[in-house]
Amino acid sequence: MDFVSAPSGESSSLKNPVLEVEAVDMTSAGVKGGTATENITAATEEAAQSEDETDSDGSGDDWESQSLYEDAIQVVRDEQLRDGVPDACTLEEAIAYRRRLHDIGKAAFVEETIGRDTVTAKKLCTAFGILPPAFLDDAPDEAFHPLLAIAISREFQKRPKLPQYNTIDDAVKLLQESKNIVVLTGAGISTSLGIPDFRSKDTGLYSQLAHLGLSDPQEVFDIHVFREDPSIFFSIAKDILPTEKKFSPTHAFIRLLQDKGKLLTNYTQNIDNIEANAGVLPENIVQCHGSFATATCVKCDYKVSGDDIFDEIKKGAIPVCASCRKSIAEDSGVKRKRSSNGAHKNRKDNDGDSSDEDYEIPTPGVMKPDITFFGEDLPDEFGHRLLHHDRDRVDLVIVIGTSLKVAPVAEVPGVLPRTVPQIYISRTPVSHTEFDIDLLGDCDVVVSELCRRAGWELKHEMIPADEKVEVLPVEDYESRHVFKVVGA
Ligand code: OAD
Repeated sequence: MDFVSAPSGESSSLKNPVLEVEAVDMTSAGVKGGTATENITAATEEAAQSEDETDSDGSGDDWESQSLYEDAIQVVRDEQLRDGVPDACTLEEAIAYRRRLHDIGKAAFVEETIGRDTVTAKKLCTAFGILPPAFLDDAPDEAFHPLLAIAISREFQKRPKLPQYNTIDDAVKLLQESKNIVVLTGAGISTSLGIPDFRSKDTGLYSQLAHLGLSDPQEVFDIHVFREDPSIFFSIAKDILPTEKKFSPTHAFIRLLQDKGKLLTNYTQNIDNIEANAGVLPENIVQCHGSFATATCVKCDYKVSGDDIFDEIKKGAIPVCASCRKSIAEDSGVKRKRSSNGAHKNRKDNDGDSSDEDYEIPTPGVMKPDITFFGEDLPDEFGHRLLHHDRDRVDLVIVIGTSLKVAPVAEVPGVLPRTVPQIYISRTPVSHTEFDIDLLGDCDVVVSELCRRAGWELKHEMIPADEKVEVLPVEDYESRHVFKVVGA
């Protein structure tokens, strides 16, 4: 599977952004013969078909970049609906419409709403996260039917929330009773150790990279950029490498699930290899984006342990291949045809007389840590284990500390059976995937409180013995809860 991300860094990437809306016959809803209900329902089918062809993650989070009306359509987020948007559904209405759609299906939903004139298409679009474009301001309501068809189709493809799981007690019970838990983790589980995540505003790594002059900070992990100039990656690699063999309370929680025989697989997007420090066994982990644990020469494929190049990475230097060096030393003095070390020369070095260029002394290859760069495939184990090992066994999914912006890992919750309960633990909620229970706050605090309530002992020096945690409800969301340390 390809490792992909949207160029904007805003959402997980899909294929050609324009196809999706273009492929929907814009006349099919409302203008053709047939009732509005029939036409919109038919258009939702077309939209669904087109999604299957173009949407690699089914996240639905890419309205921003995907639409034909790209500049005109605005995404309206749940937080905005809660604060009130003129002519839009309230958050409460939006949630009710979404539930109803999943309960009764597309055709009945369209009949019950547009068919019976209980709401305008323009307003209904907002229930599914779309603010109608300004150029349709004075248009008749039928003009919004095509948009509505796409919105409904997208919503319908999302995994619907399971209504029976909502409270902290539900979450605790699920933990206690589940036997095969898939834990999907991201950078948020390591931030308490001083390792930045990627996308948090102001503190995330990507917000700190303006000085590199990249058009998109994610290019720092782009394989083409690495081949062109590995110094860009190595200038920041030191910031994401753990300095000590520490692990966070959340890593300890994953280890505890393992000790209790409940951990089916930990899919981690993290490349810091910290799970190993906590004693999570290699057979229970899929390092979806690889790790710093090993490195490979881009020229001769010679492999070393990550520890061998750790010191150089920490200095911000470019580690080079010892094996290449040895061969070069053995061959020393012999002028040979130019060969690349995996890094192109700087442009300024190319200036001037190039007559000698074909006969440069060979240079050793660069050691690339075995992390998955944008443009590279994920390890085969990822898809294989997910589909052939875990999908039929999993009985609980816990997603921790990830924005779920990068495919294909972002697809994991959608790929697992829809009847399996899913819990999300993070500082920031996501709206493109609907979880059954959202536990918001510092993940170390959330997991330690869950363990406390489950009667499990989660020992870690960073969890104060007398820690008291309060859990606050989130307005309009019965399954969303905020965890706060009392007095913090
Ligand atoms: P992101 O930075 O996109 O998301 C981290 C999430 O964790 C955010 O939602 C934060 O709000 C949340 N968070 C941060 N600290 C937290 C804490 N202490 N407790 C709870 N939540 C916290 O990171 P990822 O989703 O992991 O690829 O990013 C996915 C991939 O994008 C990465 O693997 C990386 C990047 O490009 C590579 O490095 C190859």
